[in-house]
Amino acid sequence: MPTHRTSLAIVLAAGEGTRMRSRRPKVLHALAGRSLLGHVIAAIRQAGGGAVAVVVGPDHADVVAEARTHAPDAEAFVQDERRGTAHAVLAARTAIACGADDVVIVFGDTPLIRPQTLQRLKGALAAGAAVAVLGFRPRDPTGYGRLLMDGGSLTAIREDRDASAQERTIGLCNGGLMALDGRQALAILERIDDRNAKNEFYLTDAVAIARAMGLTAVAIDVEEDEVRGINTRAQLAEAEAVLQRRLRAAALEAGATLVAPETVFLAADTVIGRDVVIEPNVVFGPGCVVEDEAVILAFSHLQGAHVGKGASVGPFARLRPGARIGARAKVGNFVEVKAAAIEAGAKVNHLSYIGNATVGEGANVGAGTITCNYDGSAKHHTEIGKGAFIGSNSSLVAPVTVGDGAYVGSGSVITRDVPADALALGRAQQVVREGWAARWRRIRLGGKSKHEASGGA
Ligand code: UD1
Ligand code: CA
Repeated sequence: MPTHRTSLAIVLAAGEGTRMRSRRPKVLHALAGRSLLGHVIAAIRQAGGGAVAVVVGPDHADVVAEARTHAPDAEAFVQDERRGTAHAVLAARTAIACGADDVVIVFGDTPLIRPQTLQRLKGALAAGAAVAVLGFRPRDPTGYGRLLMDGGSLTAIREDRDASAQERTIGLCNGGLMALDGRQALAILERIDDRNAKNEFYLTDAVAIARAMGLTAVAIDVEEDEVRGINTRAQLAEAEAVLQRRLRAAALEAGATLVAPETVFLAADTVIGRDVVIEPNVVFGPGCVVEDEAVILAFSHLQGAHVGKGASVGPFARLRPGARIGARAKVGNFVEVKAAAIEAGAKVNHLSYIGNATVGEGANVGAGTITCNYDGSAKHHTEIGKGAFIGSNSSLVAPVTVGDGAYVGSGSVITRDVPADALALGRAQQVVREGWAARWRRIRLGGKSKHEASGGA
């Protein structure tokens, strides 16, 4: 790792985004629960970090805010007019002038770039190149800049619109991302002009200019997936598929069993331990951790949830943000948990809603139990003590505490605190009237027996 070298990453996020047919800037659209911009910045940080500069269009405070959730010190620059990729890079001129060893330029709409690839770009600079670009061979090269090679070295990049018929036959294309030697970067960038088919300042001209200055440029091969740019919703969906394949492969590699990997959807930050088993059709939103040996059964949906070692969740469970499932605890079918801790060994096995609550160690929450946490304006807490037993179909009206080891009778509506080891019943007394049903049938049905009244058969 070239830790002795300093680096500046410039993220171009001025974007046009009209083909997304969205009110939202393109780079704020998400893949695996993280914005396109967030993916790019995460890759930069994993590749060794350094300073981050983000170039945005006018009125893009939301893009800057998103950049800063991933890189708090990111410096923002506005490109007022869209005049080309080199023009966008020069919006960050003052950051470049600070003199990092490596200046890495990445596109905010190219979220599948891997940290290793950014490191390879930097590695090429460390090895003496002044310019390093990513080359790939797309099935259809139309629209991409072509890499003009002379033996092993890169001599120029020709944009599609400016290319001759012969140059258009070249299959090796520019992935867009580029690294420049920080000592030469401004000198190179400032020589770029806009004499071309689009009257834009092309970053790609950096290659020919560096060569003319007696410097070297190199191309580094990458898979097409890594440099996929997102312009449409269809491309967003394709990139999601690529990313999901990567995330599933990483989970398998880390020692989890995914019974049907292609049906499990992970978030970019999902953390899954060893010997975890994930059944088919499970969806993870952002912020989930599943510790070793836990089992997530089919059709569960988790978001912002922590599942402890050896716990069991699902099938058909919903864990919402702030759900903390303790070691060996069980959350069963049709159970929703939000902002609540289900402590070690506790069970909430069937058809319950547990929100803003603590369920103590080893407690058993019966089928259909509901924490009534919301009074129409505020949320309130329910505390269920260790080893407590909540009978089925009970409502716990928060704020309320059920003490350690206490029992709540089935069907109770609990509105007052229950002391430890007490029994609480909060339901109407049962009334029994002997013979009532038989009398009712005689009056209403003129004395027919139950069997005759229902039509026999
Ligand atoms: C660019 C490359 C091309 C390469 C292709 C790979 C140039 C001149 N061409 O072309 O060789 O094959 O990427 O996908 O670099 N941007 C700004 N401000 C601008 C212009 C662009 O911020 O004024 C940003 C865009 O938001 C985008 C990125 O730069 O994130 C690339 O711009 P785009 O117009 O998509 O470049 P391409 O024509 O695709
Ligand atoms: Ca593009």
